[in-house]
Amino acid sequence: MGLTCFVPLLLLSFIAGCAARPIYPLPSKLDGKRQPLQTSRPFNIAHRGSNGELPEETAAAYMRAIEEGTDFIETDILSSKDGVLICHHDVILDNTTDIAKHKEFENRRKTYEVQGVNMTGFFVVDFTMKELKKLGATQRYSFRDQQYNGKFPIITFEEFISIALDAPRVVGIYPEIKNPVFINQHVKWSDGKKFEDKFVEILKKYGYGGPYMSKQWLKQPLFIQSFAPTSLVYTSKLIDSPKVFLIDDITVLTEDTNQSYSEITSDAYLDYIKDYVVGIGPWKDTIVPVVNNYLQTPTDLVARAHARDLQVHPYTYRNENSFLHFNFHQDPYQEYDYWLNKIGVDGLFTDFTGSLHTFQELTSPQSKDQGDDNGRASKLLHKIAAMISSYGKV
Ligand SMILES: *[C@@H]1O[C@H](CO)[C@@H](O)[C@H](O)[C@H]1NC(C)=O
Ligand SMILES: *[C@@H]1O[C@H](CO)[C@@H](O)[C@H](O)[C@H]1NC(C)=O
Ligand SMILES: *[C@@H]1O[C@H](CO)[C@@H](O)[C@H](O)[C@H]1NC(C)=O
Repeated sequence: MGLTCFVPLLLLSFIAGCAARPIYPLPSKLDGKRQPLQTSRPFNIAHRGSNGELPEETAAAYMRAIEEGTDFIETDILSSKDGVLICHHDVILDNTTDIAKHKEFENRRKTYEVQGVNMTGFFVVDFTMKELKKLGATQRYSFRDQQYNGKFPIITFEEFISIALDAPRVVGIYPEIKNPVFINQHVKWSDGKKFEDKFVEILKKYGYGGPYMSKQWLKQPLFIQSFAPTSLVYTSKLIDSPKVFLIDDITVLTEDTNQSYSEITSDAYLDYIKDYVVGIGPWKDTIVPVVNNYLQTPTDLVARAHARDLQVHPYTYRNENSFLHFNFHQDPYQEYDYWLNKIGVDGLFTDFTGSLHTFQELTSPQSKDQGDDNGRASKLLHKIAAMISSYGKV
């Protein structure tokens, strides 16, 4: 008892003694390494950047997400008319840009069939990259902060990648091959390549590749995601990076193979797709069905995926009361607790990456072996403390 009380005092003198020379790894040993991706707890995936706070899929939203501690920045890849891959979720520009204010484009409104439904609006595939850059991104939801509307442009896939690569620590990317059937119908590349080819070309250009947890992957972490199984199977021939099969609501058929929810979540289908993907990304309300805004009994989808060594990354977690099921008492932390600790998922797509980060830091702080300077320093101090107390016992 007496001894342990002395240790902190002794430690204090060590800290003071070391104050002039903080314990940092030698620069010559760093080998250009940044703080690595945390791999000790489920992944925090910043859905369209920190879009709860800033207009989705903009540089500002991604940079905020990195600042707030995300593991991965997530994006949806579509193409401009002239074949430039861009970050934008909807095939139309109406709901998330200020296109309505651009009178020069007012005659561009069209109706196209998208996944079996006629949709009318300003389609990204009818605008060149130069034209798209004239637009400003806007908040999708009226109850979120509107003050940044129109202030940030749409960014390209390459600009998105450079945000991740320039981050002060290792930040992964999680791009979706979005609406590939529609994009391949409307956009043609001069070299006869497909959307998926262009998508992979860009990833490779920036050094992405390597299986899950390989050295190359840990340096530039990447998950490729799609709702279209044929795109995942096709890209698996082009790049060995881990892929995640997204699963839509139970009423939606796959856009390419026209399969139902029950087909693509069957044991037989999971056995098939597991050769191509490391995980599935289901809509969370299909894993735990909801009636009258209350959770019902969870399905066995997570257990069946895990039995096949498939990760489960459900979407989308949102802080606002209007999205939280009543069981969570209007408390987003309770929702995270439920999904992380009761359901046991491997990653979460969230609109509020900062909240998830804070929750995870409170409940399962990053392992101190993760390589940050503070971690190393405190580990060393713990060793010194252990040495001192063992001397004390002698
Ligand atoms: C755009 O917003 C309208 C009105 O809220 C909605 O009905 C429509 O489904 C949205 N379109 C897309 C592509 O999200
Ligand atoms: C979409 O509109 C076109 C032209 O009006 C029509 O021929 C087609 O059947 C419609 N498709 C759907 C799915 O409603
Ligand atoms: C897709 O499947 C549904 C239901 O099985 C069927 O009604 C529809 O005609 C199919 N669509 C296509 C394009 O094959």
